[in-house]
Parts: sequence; C-alpha cells; structure tokens
Amino acid sequence: MSSPSLLPLAGRVAFVTGAGQGLGAAIARGLAQAGARVALTDIEQGHAEGVAAELGGLALRLDVRDEAAFGDGFGKAVAHFGAIDIMVNNAARTPTTSLWDITPDEWDDVLAINLRGSFFGCRIAGRHMRERGAGRIVNLASMAGQQPSAATGVHYAASKAGLLALTRSFAQELAPHGVTVNALAPAAIDSPALDALDPARQQALKARIPLGRFGFPEEVAAAVVYLASPAAAFMTGATLDLNGGRFMR
Ligand SMILES: NC(=O)c1ccc[n+]([C@@H]2O[C@H](COP(=O)([O-])OP(=O)(O)OC[C@H]3O[C@@H](n4cnc5c(N)ncnc54)[C@H](O)[C@@H]3O)[C@@H](O)[C@H]2O)c1
Repeated sequence: MSSPSLLPLAGRVAFVTGAGQGLGAAIARGLAQAGARVALTDIEQGHAEGVAAELGGLALRLDVRDEAAFGDGFGKAVAHFGAIDIMVNNAARTPTTSLWDITPDEWDDVLAINLRGSFFGCRIAGRHMRERGAGRIVNLASMAGQQPSAATGVHYAASKAGLLALTRSFAQELAPHGVTVNALAPAAIDSPALDALDPARQQALKARIPLGRFGFPEEVAAAVVYLASPAAAFMTGATLDLNGGRFMR
C-alpha cells in the first residue's frame, strides 16, 4: 500500500503567465515544490524556458493581450499534461509614469496586459475548468488597486482595481461548477519591479510598512500554493492581502 503524498498539489497541473522572471518565476517554483507540474508562459523569448528547464516544466511563449494566441498556448498545455487544474494570471506591466504624463497608448497597453489579459486567462481557463467541474484560478492583483500608490501609475492601479471586480464576477459564475477564483493583493515584494526604483524611493516605501521590510517572492508563492490547495476549497471571490500591514481593512 502506498502512503498518500504530503505535497498539497501532488498530481495537479498549473499554468502560470509571466513566469519568466520575478514573482511569476517564484510562483512557478513554489507550485512545483508543492508537487504540481507547471506550464510556464511569457512574452519574452528565453525567459520562461530557463525556469521551465530548472523545474522540468513546459515553456510556452505567448502574449496575454492576444486571446487567440493565449487560447492556443493553453490548448498546447492541456494536450501536453491532459488537463489544467490551476490557472495563475500573473503577467503584468508595472509602469511608474506620473498620471500627468501617461499617453493614451501607454494607458491602453497597461489595461490590455493587466486587465484584458487576465480576463482572457479567466475565460479560457474557466471554460476548461467548468467542463471538468473543478479548478482554481488565482489573479495577481495589488495593493495599488485598493489604495493610492506612490510607486506605480494610475493606469496600473485602475487595472488592478478592475481585476478585483473581474475576480468576483468569475467567482460567482464558476462557483456552481466547483471552480474557485481568488485574488492575491501583494505590495512591495522584493522583485525586479521594485529594484527598478531608486534607493531613496525604496527607503521611503519601506518606512511605511509596519513589518519594516519588503516581502519575499517566496511568500507570494506560498499564498498562491495555499489558494490552489485543498485547504482553500471554501474560499472564492476573496482578496488575500499580502502587504506587511501597509493596508489593513
Ligand atoms: N513586485 C511587487 O512588489 C508586486 C506588488 C503587487 C503586485 N504585483 C503583481 O505581481 C505580478 C508579477 O509582478 P512582478 O513584479 O514579478 O513583475 P515583472 O515585471 O518582474 O514580471 C512580469 C512578467 O510578465 C511578463 N509579461 C509582460 N507582458 C506580457 C504579455 N503581454 N504577455 C505575457 N507575459 C507578459 C514579463 O515578460 C515578465 O516576465 C504582476 O501581476 C504584478 O502586478 C507585484
């Protein structure tokens, strides 16, 4: 008789967008450590491939702005693994442009990646999971969608606020089909996006965090693993805050 696996995601398959660097790569690693097999996707050539090779995962290049390409990539992952149990909509663009300087093109592109891309991700995975009667969708939101942020642009904030509404709508729609949809709202996680800020701005950000430090990418990954695990089966439409106490509600 074989003993049951202690890994919470053993036997599951996850699909992660924007997995070539930063939090997406950390999330893919965390899911793999929890026992899942992972499809890693990114728009940048070569990025997801490196992490996929490390994890024995499947690398796919796709642009989340393009619904047909997104659906095609998802279909390839389904063909490769048999099914997808966990969808993580992580890909995003994080500009810091002042609201006085945002061009219409920049506004449209940020909304197209962060919000429209996640809409496509929820819909593509949602159809597949609805048919199977099970699944988990996790959307990477941000504290910037809940509170004004000095570190990111208003287009980014608007996209992340929209993502919370999107999460609740898909959660409502998919709940009767055994699919949960939740948002994770991190802030100030040690990542390439944060590294890009000048040191004075980083210090000012840190000073406003009650726990007195930036978050670790592994802490974001652990929260995604939790939302994807059997332990979170009764949670849907929720926003999980991960911000060192910077925003309490
Ligand atoms: N880093 C933080 O402190 C922080 C805080 C709150 C929320 N978040 C959210 O977490 C997620 C990851 O953040 P990060 O800091 O790792 O960002 P990042 O910019 O380091 O990584 C984003 C990834 O998405 C990919 N990507 C960009 N456009 C794409 C497209 N059109 N199609 C497919 N892939 C695309 C990029 O190539 C990159 O690999 C984002 O949703 C972000 O909004 C991050």
